[in-house]
Amino acid sequence: MYTFFDKGGRSLTLRPEGTAPTIRAFIENSMINDGLPQRFYYIGPMFRYERPQAGRLRQFHQFGVELIGSAEPFADVEVIQLAKSFLSSLGLSSYKIYLNSIGCPKCRTEYKNALKEYYSQHYEEICEDCKRRFELNVLRLLDCKKDIEIAQRAPKTVEYLCNDCREHYEKLKSILRSLNMPFEEDGNLVRGLDYYTRTVFEVKHDLLGAQSAILAGGRYDGLCKELGGPDLPALGFAAGIERLILAVKSEQLQIPQDSYCDIYVAPLDEQAVVKALEISDSLRKCGLSVIIDVNLRPIKIQLKRANKLNAAIAVIIGEDELLKKAVQVKNLLDQTQSEVEFGYAVDYILDVLKAVRTRNFEHT
Ligand code: HAM
Repeated sequence: MYTFFDKGGRSLTLRPEGTAPTIRAFIENSMINDGLPQRFYYIGPMFRYERPQAGRLRQFHQFGVELIGSAEPFADVEVIQLAKSFLSSLGLSSYKIYLNSIGCPKCRTEYKNALKEYYSQHYEEICEDCKRRFELNVLRLLDCKKDIEIAQRAPKTVEYLCNDCREHYEKLKSILRSLNMPFEEDGNLVRGLDYYTRTVFEVKHDLLGAQSAILAGGRYDGLCKELGGPDLPALGFAAGIERLILAVKSEQLQIPQDSYCDIYVAPLDEQAVVKALEISDSLRKCGLSVIIDVNLRPIKIQLKRANKLNAAIAVIIGEDELLKKAVQVKNLLDQTQSEVEFGYAVDYILDVLKAVRTRNFEHT
């Protein structure tokens, strides 16, 4: 925890993660009344007083999601599927999803005893950190980067799952397989936070070295109750944005550019502006973001600006177009251009934009 005293002598702790705050906000605002399940996301700075190294920072940023109110393994699949499609949308491919089940408090007690028993036989061989973990949180012994062989031979959580936890885990794996979602089981994956139950998962990037976890999450079915709220199952994940950037760079991918607008409307003279304003308004009513050039600059400059703003389409209207009662619709990605009558312009632009977006998504 990043804890310090402020000038008033108060002890302050900066938030280390987003799951507990999300659940607290859910409880404090009685959001259960809006129906279940509910889905949330957050992006923001997090703070942990860790030993800094490449990919491990004291202030970093997370993007995370939480799904509250479902105990079904389908919800686990949805969350893992979302994680994967998010990573694919960045163009990443050199990563693996690791999966495990750490059971519920009931079956974990038996497991922890077995683990303690195992490690007590190896107590003299383990490192000082592990000796501390042995007393504080025996599950974390499996995370040790030094005593890897001892950890690998340790009893596995899945061997101690109760019937309900086993059924949940088997169902989850079978749905993932039927959806062709690649994953690897890692019997030593236990995660560093105490609230997890049943499913835990971690995405590791192949090119990042020691700090290779770019995204991680799992179920925490007891947390809502523990924080004073209703007894609700929940799960989610968070991704470290700095590590994602390292991963994108290591695969030599282009950082996807955000568009400032979908459509850039380019009127070429005063008569055309009125029609251009009308078309802009219709496009905005369809939910698109539209920038219209109100300074009537030469077409070359307007198109340069449209490209700079990363617009997908430019709509050009000049004297000729007004006479023909048509607009020029220019696809700025493949540079194709079509003349479309006023009456069909909005529908046509929507179709082109849909095609551009689908192609962009498939491309990533
Ligand atoms: P976490 O594994 O502690 O999980 O963090 C999630 C991700 O944040 C890590 O996989 C890593 O990419 C990034 N991260 C963590 N610590 C650092 C650091 N010191 N420097 C840079 N990046 C870091 C959680 O925080 C859970 N709240 C995830 C979750 C959401 N579980 C359920 N819902």
